[in-house]
Amino acid sequence: MIDSAKAGFYLNTLNSQIKMDLPFTESYKIKMVEPIRKSTRKEREAWIKKAQYNLFNLRSEQVFIDLLTDSGTGAMSDQQWGAIMTGDESYAGSSSYFHLKETIKDITGFDYFLPSHQGRAAENVLFSSLIKEGDLIPGNAHFDTTKGHIEFRHADAVDCTIKEAYDTTKEHPFKGNVDLDKLEHVLISNPKERIPMIIVTVTCNTAGGQPVSMQNLKDVYQMAKKYGTTIIFDAARFAENAYFIKMREPGYRNQSIKEIVREMFSYADGMTMSSKKDGLVNIGGFMAFREKEMVDKCSMHTIMFEGFVTYGGMSGRDMNALAVGLQEVVDFDYLDTRIQQVKYLGDKLIEYGVPVQQPIGGHAVFVDAKRFLPHVPKEEYIAQTLAVELYLEGGVRGVEIGTLLADRDPHTRENRYPALELVRLAIPRRVYTNNHMHYVAAVLKNVYDRRDQIKHGFSITHEAPILRHFTVELERVHKEASVRK
Ligand code: F0G
Repeated sequence: MIDSAKAGFYLNTLNSQIKMDLPFTESYKIKMVEPIRKSTRKEREAWIKKAQYNLFNLRSEQVFIDLLTDSGTGAMSDQQWGAIMTGDESYAGSSSYFHLKETIKDITGFDYFLPSHQGRAAENVLFSSLIKEGDLIPGNAHFDTTKGHIEFRHADAVDCTIKEAYDTTKEHPFKGNVDLDKLEHVLISNPKERIPMIIVTVTCNTAGGQPVSMQNLKDVYQMAKKYGTTIIFDAARFAENAYFIKMREPGYRNQSIKEIVREMFSYADGMTMSSKKDGLVNIGGFMAFREKEMVDKCSMHTIMFEGFVTYGGMSGRDMNALAVGLQEVVDFDYLDTRIQQVKYLGDKLIEYGVPVQQPIGGHAVFVDAKRFLPHVPKEEYIAQTLAVELYLEGGVRGVEIGTLLADRDPHTRENRYPALELVRLAIPRRVYTNNHMHYVAAVLKNVYDRRDQIKHGFSITHEAPILRHFTVELERVHKEASVRK
C-alpha cells in the first residue's frame, strides 16, 4: 500500500508529464484604447424614448456595448495605420489604386476592379449597368441594401436559400446554401434575358451570418453557366465564409484560407464588396470582375456616382489601408480569433437557454425573438421590442432583423412578415474582449428571465417608403410593456 504523501508525489509527477492543451487566446495585443461609459437605466429610458424607440437614433455615447453592426466598426492594425501615411492622393493613376488592384488580383484572381465608397455604392453601379425593370435576381437571401437596390429598379430579388436556414434550431453546417431545385425552377421558368445575374452572398448575413459550402458555390456556378447567366458574389464576409469551409467541409482542413478563397472566387464572374467588413477598414468598397467587358459596362456609372475609375469614392490612404486589410483578413489566426469570439458569446447564450440561430454564424449571434418573446404579437414588431429591452437592460445595442427590416411589399404595400424575427448582435472586428461578451450574455439572461412580463411592443408613427428601419419612428403599444418587476 502507498501512503498519501507518496500518492501525491506520483500524481504531481504524472501531471507534470501531461502536456496541457494551451487555451484559446487572441492573435493580437492592444496598442490604443477608447474609453466607454456605463449609464443608468433611468438615463437609457429617457434616451430611447427621445430616439422614438429607434436604436439608429441613439448617440453612440448613449450606448455601452455597441453591437449594431460589424460594418466599418472594426479596429485597424498598426500596419494599416502605417499604410494610411503613405497613401497617394493623385486624382488619376494613384499608386495606392495599383497597390489595391494587385492585392485584389492576388486574393480573388479577378483582373479588373472598380473602387466605390462602400458596398451599396458598388451595388448601385453594377445594378444601374445590368438590371432593368421586370428582371429577377435569384440567390441565397439578399442583404437589405441589395434587395433595396433591386426593388428600386422595379426588379425582384428571389430568395432561394435552403429551407433549413429558416429553422433556428436545426444544425446544418452551411445554412447559407442555395437550394438548387428552387434556383433551377426560377431559371427554367423565366426567359434568360430577365435574369441578368445570380447573387450569392458569402456569408449570408440575412440567414444569420451562415456560410455557403464550396460544393454549393460550384453547383450554383455550373447551373448559371448551363442557363447562360452571370454569378456575382456579394463578398462582404468572404474570408469568414472560407474559415467555415476549412473547418467544416471535408477536404479543406489542410488548405490555407488564401487557397480556399481563390477557389471560392473561381466560381464567380464578379463580386461586389463592402470593405467595411472583411476589408478590415472603416469605409470603402469595390467591384471586381474576371472579364474586362464588365468593367467597361460599369465605368460610366462609377464616374457618374463615385468618381474617376482609379479612386471611385475612396482616398488614396483608404485604398492603402484596404490593401493591407485584405491580406490580414485571410490570416487563419486572425479568423480563428474572430469566429471563436462570436462563438464564445453564442455558447454563453445557449448555456443560459436563450434561443439563438444555430450553429452560431460568422459575424454575429442572431437571437430568435419569436421564441424569446412568445407573447408579443407580430404586428407589434417582436424583434424590435427585444432590441429595445436589451438596450434598457444594459446599454447593449443590437439590431432588428425582422418585420421592420423586411419592409412593405413593393406591390401591395402590406407589411411583410418574415419567417424569422431576429435580433442581431454583430461583433465588431478586433474591438471588444471576451469580458464584454460575458456582460452582453448576462444582459440577455436578465431579460430572458423576465420574458413573461413582456407582452406588447410598438406601433409605427412615421416611416420612409424604402429601407424604413433606418429612420422609422415608433411608440409603445402599452406603456407598461417595459416596466420592470
Ligand atoms: N452586402 C452585405 C452582405 C452586407 O452585410 C452589407 C452591409 C452590404 C452588402 C452593404 O454594404 O454597408 O458597405 O454599403 N451590411 C451592414 C450590416 C450595413 O450591418 O450588416 P455597405
